[in-house]
Amino acid sequence: MSDQPILRAEEISLSFGGIQALDAVGLDVFPGEILAIIGPNGAGKTSLLNCINGLYRPNSGRIFYHNQNITGLKAYQRARLRIGRTFQHVELFAGMTVLDNIKSGRVMDIKTNFLGAFFHVGKSVKEEMRHRRDLEESVIDFLDLNHVREQPVATLPHGIQKRVDLGRALAMKPELLLLDEPMAGMNIEEKEDMASFFLDIHRDLGTTIVWIEHDLSTVMNLSDRICVLNFGVRIALGTPDEIRKDPGVIEAYLGQEEGV
Ligand SMILES: Nc1ncnc2c1ncn2[C@@H]1O[C@H](COP(=O)(O)OP(=O)(O)O)[C@@H](O)[C@H]1O
Ligand SMILES: [Mg+2]
Repeated sequence: MSDQPILRAEEISLSFGGIQALDAVGLDVFPGEILAIIGPNGAGKTSLLNCINGLYRPNSGRIFYHNQNITGLKAYQRARLRIGRTFQHVELFAGMTVLDNIKSGRVMDIKTNFLGAFFHVGKSVKEEMRHRRDLEESVIDFLDLNHVREQPVATLPHGIQKRVDLGRALAMKPELLLLDEPMAGMNIEEKEDMASFFLDIHRDLGTTIVWIEHDLSTVMNLSDRICVLNFGVRIALGTPDEIRKDPGVIEAYLGQEEGV
């Protein structure tokens, strides 16, 4: 692992009315790692991802991406920097096909490239279109979605919809991929499929992954490091072994259904 973080969240605080969703949370993410964010419901996990990708603006704190201060950038500008994102609740275009949903991940790029191409070389639009089509096809192949490519996503099982959501994020060629509970609501078989796609993405595409997940044994198996939030505070950060033994983490999870 490189010692320069790809992403640095510095003292991120965020409140909603009287609720302190995040309280001076800091986090460094290193290139090529798989880092999980865990914590009880309402701990601030989704809020932290939203601050990283620009959906939420923190009340204080700064976000750096490759040492560049991106705190003031909007979500679409961060997406262009190749910070990709999936959502806790599937937010696809339900009536559109799998292929069209995956294409929608790249919409923002075409505008910029179109203008750039208009002013520079005529044929690069065509090249860009071909490049995009190849990319979309490779995402479909990669996630094994060929058999459902022309189906409206609303007709597909939940597990496949989550995979399409992942495909849409992959179509942006993310360098940093933020996944909010990619396995939520899945049965065991779907979870196993998602875990293997997840590892393929990491291994074959070299993508750095930050993910939120509730299933602790899956988190422990798949992650290099784990960040634990509780009531908006980062209470621990470390390897799975360190987290397993951490007294503060054990206490936070006492009374929860799942043990650590
Ligand atoms: N858009 C919002 N408006 C109001 N409160 C919010 C909003 N987003 C999150 N919160 C509150 O912030 C806290 C943290 O929420 P969240 O980040 O969704 O937690 P988690 O993902 O860990 O379950 C919760 O108390 C939640 O109700
Ligand atoms: Mg959440």
